[in-house]
Amino acid sequence: MKAIESMSIKKYAIRSARAEELLPLRSAVLRNGAPPKDCVFDEDSLLGSIFLVAEDSATQEVVGIVSLHPVPFPKDPIDSDLRLRGMAVRTGERGANVGRRLVEDCITRGTTGGYTRIWCYARKVAIPFYEKCGFVAFGPEFEDPKHGPHVAMIYRLQPTD
Ligand SMILES: CC(C)(COP(=O)(O)OP(=O)(O)OC[C@H]1O[C@@H](n2cnc3c(N)ncnc32)[C@H](O)[C@@H]1OP(=O)(O)O)[C@@H](O)C(=O)NCCC(=O)NCCS
Repeated sequence: MKAIESMSIKKYAIRSARAEELLPLRSAVLRNGAPPKDCVFDEDSLLGSIFLVAEDSATQEVVGIVSLHPVPFPKDPIDSDLRLRGMAVRTGERGANVGRRLVEDCITRGTTGGYTRIWCYARKVAIPFYEKCGFVAFGPEFEDPKHGPHVAMIYRLQPTD
């Protein structure tokens, strides 16, 4: 009983954020600690971009991040595409569904926003994560000169009536 009492189950809240709030985790997880100002994406300034964070409800620390940008998929472009980019969860919080909840929020926002697809360039190590979230690989693996092997992946949104 004592052991159960001393266990704490962390709670996380997903909320929209300003782009600047995502930069520290982009730096730490995705850019090897590069200065946050160097972790800005060109797409961040696009009208309609959405920035989401997962926050530890107890400490208000940002533990997960993702961005959505209204950018057509280059290999098969349609106007109603969203690019998912900069998906990252802090090391200590991985495996607790933080990433899945961020993607689910992206899917909800993409659907209500009238978009047709969400696409991303998935790091090879993250492919199984995106598959678990319902994404499907598109085309062959390719090498990103800075960030290693990647595969394009697509999630088809279900239109609402
Ligand atoms: C990829 C990442 C975002 C996943 O976040 P997470 O919060 O740990 O993932 P979740 O806990 O929501 O996992 C959801 C499901 O995916 C699976 N999964 C997550 N990462 C996985 C991995 N690397 N390999 C295999 N399966 C994985 C989980 O086991 C879980 O499966 P389940 O439904 O069977 O339980 C996180 O590991 C991360 O930040 N990695 C480093 C940065 C990175 O690679 N980002 C992606 C850039 S494209």
